Amino acid sequence: MTGVLELRDIAESIAREAGELAFTRRVEGVSIAASKSSLEDVVTEADREVETLIRSRLADVRPADAFLGEESGAEGGSSGLTWVVDPIDGTVNYLYGIPDYCVSIAVVEGEPDPSTWSALAGVVFAPAKSELFRTAVGHGAFRGDERLVVNPDVRPELALIGTGFGYAAEKRVRQAAVVESLIAEVRDIRRIGAAALDLCAVACGRLDGYYESGLNAWDQAAGALIAREAGARVEGRAGAPSNRRLTIAATPGLFDFLHERVSEASHG
Ligand code: IPD
Repeated sequence: MTGVLELRDIAESIAREAGELAFTRRVEGVSIAASKSSLEDVVTEADREVETLIRSRLADVRPADAFLGEESGAEGGSSGLTWVVDPIDGTVNYLYGIPDYCVSIAVVEGEPDPSTWSALAGVVFAPAKSELFRTAVGHGAFRGDERLVVNPDVRPELALIGTGFGYAAEKRVRQAAVVESLIAEVRDIRRIGAAALDLCAVACGRLDGYYESGLNAWDQAAGALIAREAGARVEGRAGAPSNRRLTIAATPGLFDFLHERVSEASHG
């Protein structure tokens, strides 16, 4: 059976190739292929091309594994493992030439659902920033060769918190209410624009905590494991695993504060 480090290495080599392709296509010029859930939620030709590349590389080296990708959906396998892929997380940043976009590749065991799966390995590669984050469960999280450890705990008023917003207007109104309540109590709030990079930011100390509601499996699969392996507490609501309803990743001492505030201010 393949070990988790080998799975991580496969993810890394494919993420590098995929990230270089995304970067090259960005330099050549981005074209929107379609809108998805709303006019703001777009897919570019590059998202599709990069996912096709990742899918075909995985089919070559891991033919028995299942696949779940943001753009091309799910395909079953017989091994019990699923590769969960966001070809370009931070698509709006990509569209505007903001360098905070990334390829996110994770491999999980069990159903491809963040509420129940066990994540085994994950890689997040931001080609425009030449930053690669990687992890394998039980083996720590790294940026390049540097082992990552979350920040020491600070009081909420000294904490820098990240968040993100969904694409639906009614959801954004609820998410704004949470920001409105939190902003007076923390050092400041950041909206980086790519959930996988938000989770890596907690892992490497650029944020003390991060929360978001409505993340898809592919937005969080790799980043959540990277944050956890760096020492973050990563959970959803009321002790549930992080899932579509809520994802919180924070230094352990800040987690309860964030969970309480987000639960109080949101309407579910
Ligand atoms: C989005 C980004 C964004 C987050 C959204 C995600 P996409 O993914 O991660 O930061 O706030 O919830 O949908 O559309 O860029 O792949």
